[in-house]
Amino acid sequence: MHLKISLWAAVACVFSAGAVQAQTVGLDLAKSKACMACHQVDSKRVGPPLKSVAERYAGQGDAMVDYLAGKIRGGGRGAWGAVPMPAQTHVSQEDARLLAEWILSLAPAKQ
Ligand code: HEC
Repeated sequence: MHLKISLWAAVACVFSAGAVQAQTVGLDLAKSKACMACHQVDSKRVGPPLKSVAERYAGQGDAMVDYLAGKIRGGGRGAWGAVPMPAQTHVSQEDARLLAEWILSLAPAKQ
């Protein structure tokens, strides 16, 4: 009985550590690419809160990763307000996709 409980605890630990790691890697990448100069996760800075971006686009399938990766590298205007986002050409296609995946993961899980 005790063994069973601690086994589950261990499994739960491994899973949550994985999720936490993905979150930190995404945030670290965003920091290293200077996204956080204009964005915050929870609140508006120059650009929209990344959580709001996630809420708008999450659950719309894989195409959203490409769409957002394109927006990250190419910049955009008009989706969130008057201030445009300049093209982030220092971000590789691969990193842009990682950032897009991380941003989409910030939305609260849909039931
Ligand atoms: C100079 C400020 C600035 C920087 C740096 C910046 N952003 Fe933005 N970002 C904005 C603004 C402003 C908007 C809103 C643009 C709009 O209304 O279409 C935006 C919008 C976005 C969107 C939503 C796009 C859409 O079509 O809804 C994403 C995703 C995003 N930024 C991610 C990033 C990532 C990732 C980085 C770092 C590589 C980054 N941004 C760097 C200012 C910035």
